[in-house]
Amino acid sequence: MKDEDSQIHPKHQHHHGPIRDAMAHVNYKIAIISGKGGVGKTSVVVNLAAAMRKKDMVVGIFDADVHGPSVPKMVGVKTEMRDILHGSHGIDPVVTEHGLKIMSVALIWPTDSTPVMWRGQYKARVLRQFLSSIKWHEMDFLFVDLPPGTGDESITIMKSIPDLDGMVVVTTPQEISTIICSKAINAAKELNAPILGLIENMNVYHCPDCGRVEHFFGKDKGERLARTFDIPFLGGIPLDGQYSEAADTGVPIVFKYPESLTARAMIKIADKLMERLPEKEKAIVKDRPWEEGRDHPR
Ligand SMILES: Nc1ncnc2c1ncn2[C@@H]1O[C@H](COP(=O)(O)OP(=O)(O)OP(=O)(O)O)[C@@H](O)[C@H]1O
Ligand SMILES: [Mg+2]
Repeated sequence: MKDEDSQIHPKHQHHHGPIRDAMAHVNYKIAIISGKGGVGKTSVVVNLAAAMRKKDMVVGIFDADVHGPSVPKMVGVKTEMRDILHGSHGIDPVVTEHGLKIMSVALIWPTDSTPVMWRGQYKARVLRQFLSSIKWHEMDFLFVDLPPGTGDESITIMKSIPDLDGMVVVTTPQEISTIICSKAINAAKELNAPILGLIENMNVYHCPDCGRVEHFFGKDKGERLARTFDIPFLGGIPLDGQYSEAADTGVPIVFKYPESLTARAMIKIADKLMERLPEKEKAIVKDRPWEEGRDHPR
C-alpha cells in the first residue's frame, strides 16, 4: 500500500506551516550562497534586490547570516528600527528609502548576556520562530543572505524556508574551485531546489583613468567552471571602489551609480536570473492599498 506522504511532492513534505503561511504571497524565494566569507555575497544580495526593485518589483531581503549580519548597513537601515519589533501581531519588514523590504536577524540579535539561545539547535528554532512571524505580504522576490559556506548551518536555514526556488552561488576568481561547485550541487540535491547560477565577483578591473582592463586572477574562470559543472553562468562583477563605497554609505551601487559598469553588470545578472526562473502565476494581489499614493511599497 502506498504511504500517503509519498503522494505529496517532496517539497511539500516538511512541516513548516506557520512559515509557509508567513511566506504564502512571496512569489520567488532565492538563497545566495558562497564557499567562504568575504567574497561579496551580501553586496550581491543587496544589488540583485536593487536591480529587481528598479524593474518595479516588490522585493525583500531576509538577512539570515547569524554570524555577521551586514544587510541592514548596506541598505541604510538604522539600528533604531529595532523598535518595530515591539508590535505584537507579527513583524513588519523595514522599508528602505528605495523601497526594499528588509528583515534581519540583526534586529533580534541578542545582547552579550543572552548568547546561549543562539547555540546549536536553539539557533534553528529561534530562526524558524522569527521567520514565521515576519509579515512579508505580497512580494515578487525574496532574497536570502546566508552565512558563508555550504555546511550544515546554511542547509538548516534553507530548509526552514518552504519552496525555495533555488540558489545562486557567488565566488571570486581566487576562490573558484570544483569543491565549491560540488558542495553547492549536493546542497541543491538535499534541498530539492535548483542552482540558478554562478556569479563571479571581482573578476575584472577597469582602470577609471586609463580604461585598461585587468584580469588579476585569470580570465573567464567562473564561466569555465560553470560550464564544467553544467551550472548556468549568470555573469561577472568588476572589482570597483565605487561598489564598496556605495555599500559603506548604505546605498547599493545599482541605486547610487546606476550607469556605472558595475551597476550595469549587476542589472544584466538580474535579467539572466529572471530568465532562469520558471513562469509562475503571480501570488501578488492586484489591489495593493498600502501602496496607494506612494512610490514604493510599505
Ligand atoms: N566587486 C567588488 N568591488 C569592490 N569591493 C567589493 C566588491 N564586492 C565586494 N566588495 C567589498 O568586499 C567586502 C566584502 O563584501 P561582502 O560583505 O558583500 O562579502 P560577504 O561574502 O557577504 O562577506 P561575509 O562572509 O563577511 O558575509 C565589502 O567591503 C564589500 O564592499
Ligand atoms: Mg555577508
